[in-house]
Amino acid sequence: MAVGSGAAYRALYRTLLTRIDPEVAHHWAFSAMRAAARVPPAVPVLRRAFVEHDPRLRTRALGMDLPGPLGLAAGFDKDGAGVEALAHFGFSFVEVGTVTALPQPGNPKPRLHRLVDDRAVVNRMGFNNSGAEAVARRLRQLRAVPPRHPVAVGVNIGKSKVVAEEDAAADYATSARLLAPYADYLVVNVSSPNTPGLRALQAVDKLRPVLDAVRTAGDAAAHRHVPLLVKIAPDLGDDDVDAVADLALELGLEGVVATNTTTGREGLRSHPDAVAAAGGGGLSGAPLRERSVQVLRQLSARAGDRLTLVSVGGVETADDVRERLEAGASLVQAYTAFIYEGPGWARRVLTDLAASRSRRESDRSAPGHR
Ligand code: FNR
Repeated sequence: MAVGSGAAYRALYRTLLTRIDPEVAHHWAFSAMRAAARVPPAVPVLRRAFVEHDPRLRTRALGMDLPGPLGLAAGFDKDGAGVEALAHFGFSFVEVGTVTALPQPGNPKPRLHRLVDDRAVVNRMGFNNSGAEAVARRLRQLRAVPPRHPVAVGVNIGKSKVVAEEDAAADYATSARLLAPYADYLVVNVSSPNTPGLRALQAVDKLRPVLDAVRTAGDAAAHRHVPLLVKIAPDLGDDDVDAVADLALELGLEGVVATNTTTGREGLRSHPDAVAAAGGGGLSGAPLRERSVQVLRQLSARAGDRLTLVSVGGVETADDVRERLEAGASLVQAYTAFIYEGPGWARRVLTDLAASRSRRESDRSAPGHR
């Protein structure tokens, strides 16, 4: 069985990876990907195995020309340590972060749990990251050498845990100033459930000064306009989703990333004891799908094409990607499906997506089609 084959990875996952602490497994897997990408003769091999080059997938959004619409969501590469490697595994763009102005260790371990029966994950990482200065240094190095295989980089920023809510705008602005010069787009994350009080910043009166400060600091530091988006939680009510969309339009933001993880635990198949054992934090993966699509539709109805919508939450298949694009998303991201499906996942999804586009084109050009 090929390494990129989903069946091979699923077998490996069941027999080996589920026995390893999920955070350790993540660390090993990411280290292996980065190590492979550092071996020059391995790169073309990886790209042949894992990158889909079909020109029908080309996507333009947020000023970026991308080989496809699928990116890796924030949280996988929190420190910008493996952006190029991740592009060799089929992602057209990588959202680095969440990065905070101050380096921080995150919550005590264990803080990452699988709910295999739900193809879901619960995390309470708490923005463990090496801080905006260190991440900026890494991204500066990445940008210093013109890459053979360019990859678009979004940078997702959050509030440092020790900073009080009233000082949030200045804290976010520090990260924006340091990181915007290396970002194709910036995301203000106010939706992770694992930093106390963070989600309160989604209320428009608190969000406005944060977004204003980030935009001013980011554009000034980068000497260009850096597209700015805000990432929201699936747990917002519909009126709050509308309010964020209205604020984004009023402030001239480029878009919204929807959604982050949920604090809800409804409708899970996993045994209640397993759900309880996973503990608090944000749930991601398949159970998030329905609400994530609802929030996307709500945003799309409110803002039409005046906002660029990045849809994330429970995306597992080409049909999921197509559904999001048809519901108004310009870009789609995923994280949990990559954990469950392995290194060949993005390629499989994009190959299916390209094939369905080609079927549609031939249906349209068939005689009798109007
Ligand atoms: C995340 N996610 C996340 N989001 C974010 O904005 N900043 C972050 O630091 C993290 N960290 C993080 C860690 C882990 C372990 C997971 C599983 C997720 C949320 C992620 O970007 C995404 O919004 C959700 O996971 C929903 O997408 P999936 O996983 O259902 O495809």
